[in-house]
Amino acid sequence: MILNPNQRSQIMPLPVVLLSTISSDGVRNAAPWSCVIPILRPLEEVLIASWLKRDTLENIRQTGEFVINVPRAGMEEAVMACAKSFSPEVDEFEEAGLVARPSVKVSAPGIEGCLAWAECTVVEEIARERYVLVIGRVAHLEADDRFFSPENGMDFEKAKPLCIMGSERGMHFASPADTGYKGGSARE
Ligand SMILES: Cc1cc2nc3c(=O)[nH]c(=O)nc-3n(C[C@H](O)[C@H](O)[C@H](O)COP(=O)(O)O)c2cc1C
Repeated sequence: MILNPNQRSQIMPLPVVLLSTISSDGVRNAAPWSCVIPILRPLEEVLIASWLKRDTLENIRQTGEFVINVPRAGMEEAVMACAKSFSPEVDEFEEAGLVARPSVKVSAPGIEGCLAWAECTVVEEIARERYVLVIGRVAHLEADDRFFSPENGMDFEKAKPLCIMGSERGMHFASPADTGYKGGSARE
C-alpha cells in the first residue's frame, strides 16, 4: 500500500527514551523522546531532534547538557506523565513521581529505574526553520548491570527497553524480541 510521506515514522520502531535536563535555575525536567540516535556505531556522539517549543531544548541551551535515560516496559505511565505540557517552573520529576539519580559528569540528574544513562554535553546545535537538531557527546555512560554485560551487551529480552510503533490511532509501546539470528561483528 502507498503511504503518505509523513507516515515515515510508522514504518519502523523508534526508541523511547526520557531526556532529563535541568534549567539554570535548578528546575528538573523530563520528557519522552523518540528522535534520538547514536551517530554511527563506534563514535561517541548522539543526535536528537527537537521542536522549537520544548522546555527540554531551553534547558539544553541554558546548560549545554542532557541525560538520555532508557526506560523499561512497565514505565509507560511515567513516560506519558512526562509528555504532558507543564510550565517551565514545574519540577517534572515530582509531577511524574520520578526518583532522581545523581549524574557523574553533568548537572542534570538521571532517572532511577531506567536501564541505562548517557550523560551528554552539547557539541553543536543545527537550527532549522521548525525544529532543531542537537548533537551531543556522551561524557559518561552507565547501564544497570543486572541487564548488561560487557561481552553480550544488554539482555534485552529480560530488560525490555521501550520502543514505539506509530499508527494513525496513536502510539503502540513495544520492546525488542530476539530473532535468534546472530550477526557477528559487522564492519562499519
Ligand atoms: C513517545 C514520545 C516521543 C516523543 N519524541 C519527541 C521528539 O523526538 N522530539 C520532540 O521535540 N518531542 C517529542 N515528544 C513530545 C515531548 O515529549 C512532549 O512535548 C513533552 O511535553 C515536552 O516536554 P518539555 O516541554 O518539558 O520539553 C515525544 C513524546 C512522546 C510521548
